[in-house]
Amino acid sequence: MSVSLHELKKLPRSERYETLLLLVESQLKTEKDRTATLANLSAMMMGLVNRLNWAGFYLFNGEELVLGPFQGEPACHRILPGEGVCGKAFIEKTSILVDDVLTFPGHIACDSASRSELVCPILVETEAIGVIDWDSPEEARFTREEIDLIEGKDGD
Ligand code: SME
Repeated sequence: MSVSLHELKKLPRSERYETLLLLVESQLKTEKDRTATLANLSAMMMGLVNRLNWAGFYLFNGEELVLGPFQGEPACHRILPGEGVCGKAFIEKTSILVDDVLTFPGHIACDSASRSELVCPILVETEAIGVIDWDSPEEARFTREEIDLIEGKDGD
């Protein structure tokens, strides 16, 4: 499936977020390959959520969270469950919003430009299989709207 984000980027925020959810749904329906799907989802997240410097996935291999498809600066390859924002969201099976990464104990700095972070676990039934990670160069960038979005809710 080919999608151009150029025009979609100009939409107002709520429409951009609704569009992102529709695109994600469509990707998940039309492509079964995990790498291909997550690679496109990374591009869509980065393209349609403003003021991000990193957007991507870490996937659990049974021992560690391993870097998956992403957009942004090169990042650490592996994160242990419980470590950093990603590892904590993974074991707690809940989204974690960090307004200022400098104050988060154990935060793993991949891109020194990152100031705030939002991580959402990927749950299949009740099992966590990885996380979605968004970083922003702005302090306190993320709000309830972005939590709803990263969790796949339409916010209404
Ligand atoms: N900051 C994350 C590590 C991943 S990068 O932000 C891409 C963490 O503390 O888990």
